[in-house]
Amino acid sequence: MTTNRREFLMTAGLSAAVAGASAQEAQNEKPIRVAVIGTGSRGSGHLATLKTIPGFRVVALADPTPENLDHAATLAPGAATYSDYRKLLAERKDLDAVVVVTPNFLHAEVAIAALDRGLSVLCEKPMATRVEDANRMIEASRRSGKVLYIGFQNRLSPVTAKMKELAAAGEIGKIELASGNLFRGDWNPKSWKYTDPKTGVPTNWRYLAFTEGAALLEDGIHEVDSLNWMIDSPVVRVSASGGNNVLKDRDTVDHVAAIFEYESGVKFTFDFCLFAPNAGPAARRMALIGSEGVIYPESGRVAICGRDAKAVRYVDAVDGTSAGGHGDRQTYQQYLLFAQSLREGKAPLVAPESAKNVAKMILLAEKSLREHRVANWNDLPA
Ligand SMILES: NC(=O)c1ccc[n+]([C@@H]2O[C@H](COP(=O)([O-])OP(=O)(O)OC[C@H]3O[C@@H](n4cnc5c(N)ncnc54)[C@H](O)[C@@H]3O)[C@@H](O)[C@H]2O)c1
Repeated sequence: MTTNRREFLMTAGLSAAVAGASAQEAQNEKPIRVAVIGTGSRGSGHLATLKTIPGFRVVALADPTPENLDHAATLAPGAATYSDYRKLLAERKDLDAVVVVTPNFLHAEVAIAALDRGLSVLCEKPMATRVEDANRMIEASRRSGKVLYIGFQNRLSPVTAKMKELAAAGEIGKIELASGNLFRGDWNPKSWKYTDPKTGVPTNWRYLAFTEGAALLEDGIHEVDSLNWMIDSPVVRVSASGGNNVLKDRDTVDHVAAIFEYESGVKFTFDFCLFAPNAGPAARRMALIGSEGVIYPESGRVAICGRDAKAVRYVDAVDGTSAGGHGDRQTYQQYLLFAQSLREGKAPLVAPESAKNVAKMILLAEKSLREHRVANWNDLPA
């Protein structure tokens, strides 16, 4: 493994939290034995990353779809395979942690079952599809005293971390406005199909409000989380508009325009569209506007435009870390932080409460667009 501590500390754009977690240190410890539950597209990505990280050993896999489980087994040689995650949790006494990569509506069920078994959990975003479920997950983590880390790996992107650092240092004065968008193509047609027991009809889980929660919970949520993390104030009101203008074959919407209003006075607008596969450089965007300037990522750097300055200033956000030969650096680093939380008791970079709040912001946007009214923070459970 090429990552060493010095290389890791050279990381310019990452948070101080990451700088303390090195792959080398992880390698020197007893391996963390994990089970991956849900081995579809993202589950395979996790397994490819896990393969490159010293200090983790995948000992078991669970998925009811045989071809996905078989493929996953090739990425985790020697891991035992289960078609039912409950059997895995009941039988395996050799686990330290579980990685939850199921469709969204199952995150709470699987994470709580694992926490109640005394296992730490790394759970994919979104935390849950209902605020009540997120609360039950937090309660289960408290009860068991085990780590619950929600996978917002975009916070570990060097430009995101650098943007947060510069904004927090007052480079653009007081944050007043935030803006972001995700314009993309339709969901993966190979997504798992949920069969409604009432109709017997199998449907892409991303098409159903029950299984996905909301379209923006599924994607765009990374940018919403990152900007919300930078704004760092409670949300008071949410208004949104949206619907199915082009993709009419589903419950879940194909576009959203949302406004989040904060106690600090900040307004944050976010646009999401599923029928814009070729949006080019405009596809994923984040910007913060402060009383003294504007800050945004551009070509791997962070641009700052002062209110009075004529020229744009660029700040490098260099990622000096290795991802063990695998391209998904943020997920790799997320595992290093997860290991640090398990071994040293360090609070996760993504506090479960903040992951719950982001899910609640989006569920309120969904409520607002469905009910054609402004939603207040108290319109959903605390
Ligand atoms: N962090 C990221 O950047 C990122 C990217 C993509 C997906 N995700 C998240 O990962 C999760 C999975 O997404 P995906 O793209 O892999 O979906 P997918 O449809 O490709 O795979 C889902 C898998 O879950 C399995 N599954 C269904 N019911 C199950 C159960 N009861 N127990 C165990 N497994 C079960 C399915 O058989 C399938 O293999 C979602 O929550 C999604 O939001 C995160």
